[in-house]
Amino acid sequence: MTSKPQELAAVAPREVLTVTEETNSAPQSPFGDQFSDVEAPELEPMLKSSVARRWIRDIHDMVGNDMYPFQQTMQSKSGPAVVSNSRDMFMLSSYDYLGLLGHPYIENASINAIRNYGTGTGGARMLAGTNQLHRALEAKIAAFKRKPAAITFSSGYMANLAVINGIVQKSDRIIIDENVHRSLIDAIYMAQVECVKFRHNDLEHLRELLAEETTAKKTFIVIEGVYSMEGDLCPLPEIVELKKEFGAYLILDESHSLGLYGENCRGVDEHFNVNPEDIDVFTSAMSKCVPSGGGFLACSEQTVTVLQHSATPFVFSCAMSPANTAACLAAFEVIEKEGPERLKKVFENANYLKKHLKRLGYNVGKTQSPIIPVIIGNKEKTLRLSARLYALGILANPVIFPAIPPGEDRLRLCVTAAQSKYMLDEIILAFGMCRSIVE
Ligand SMILES: Cc1ncc(COP(=O)(O)O)c(C=O)c1O
Repeated sequence: MTSKPQELAAVAPREVLTVTEETNSAPQSPFGDQFSDVEAPELEPMLKSSVARRWIRDIHDMVGNDMYPFQQTMQSKSGPAVVSNSRDMFMLSSYDYLGLLGHPYIENASINAIRNYGTGTGGARMLAGTNQLHRALEAKIAAFKRKPAAITFSSGYMANLAVINGIVQKSDRIIIDENVHRSLIDAIYMAQVECVKFRHNDLEHLRELLAEETTAKKTFIVIEGVYSMEGDLCPLPEIVELKKEFGAYLILDESHSLGLYGENCRGVDEHFNVNPEDIDVFTSAMSKCVPSGGGFLACSEQTVTVLQHSATPFVFSCAMSPANTAACLAAFEVIEKEGPERLKKVFENANYLKKHLKRLGYNVGKTQSPIIPVIIGNKEKTLRLSARLYALGILANPVIFPAIPPGEDRLRLCVTAAQSKYMLDEIILAFGMCRSIVE
């Protein structure tokens, strides 16, 4: 007997909420009754390790205190207002900075792509999985990033694995900013290449490391345009100068800066008026300002040709789906037309929220972007703040150890162009109501 598939109905969220409609609802546990006993569950023999033990104990504590804030299930599109766990809520942790999720042009492109190309490609790019949407998107990205060529992958994480594993050799060395994303760290482990970290955005430290004697054949510097935990920018012009002085190569991850900087939203190179030729490889996710899923590298034609054959995510992993590829292509077209206006709006919103959070006495670090860290420095208080905001109807994700060093616990807020002043005022009111938690 076959069972009937469960009906999943998406719902449209209410956009006018008020935080004074406080409920008792706590973030919901997605674990069923796994953590319902007073004691944390025993570890299965296969899982026995200190890491698994810590996770199970921590999750048990969070669930037991009604404060497990992760994996809250949405029943609507993401956007500034969502339905989560059957409740209308304001979303304050979506990477949709330009507010393009739900844009009709992008959605229609994606729906048409499924009709014309199906729901999957039937293979990896190298084999049977390349279609004309991939070609069109790669041409569009190359033009947008002002590089000769581009290559796409099924996620930003895959793009980062690809660039390190496809280009860097064991005989080379990598110098990374200490705050680069985990995908780049994982890629470096996989490539088994010598790697040293420079203190975050510290040009003197970077210079010292570049000047050290080395037997490495080539040196790669790896940085990000905007750092996702702090929301601050890289000092790109100075790093380009250093790269030239020491004959190094530069890989720049623009996952959080693509779409948000420069007159035409091209990214930090346009913002700083740096010649794109001076960046050897741009890498980026297409799951943030580009509201889809996928990743790209923009570089020389020959680099793309080599990557098509040496980058394992291109050869051994599935191609970007037609729906995602078409959404990305349409999103770049929309960014070309509407990006500058949306960019203005998202920074107005970010400055407004930042100003009021500071007035309320919250520490928002040194952000220069729509990512606003609310630094609490204590895991328990951070979880309590997130849970109280949840009860007030606001989804604001905490970032706690091990995603961040102990003592740097925080909420990470993401402002978007789609938030109205009314929404921001309600959010500010809620933060005012929660102030005592962090005192
Ligand atoms: C800087 C950076 N690079 C890469 C990625 C990975 O992108 P994706 O989520 O598309 O795999 C992220 C994800 O948040 C990121 O922040």
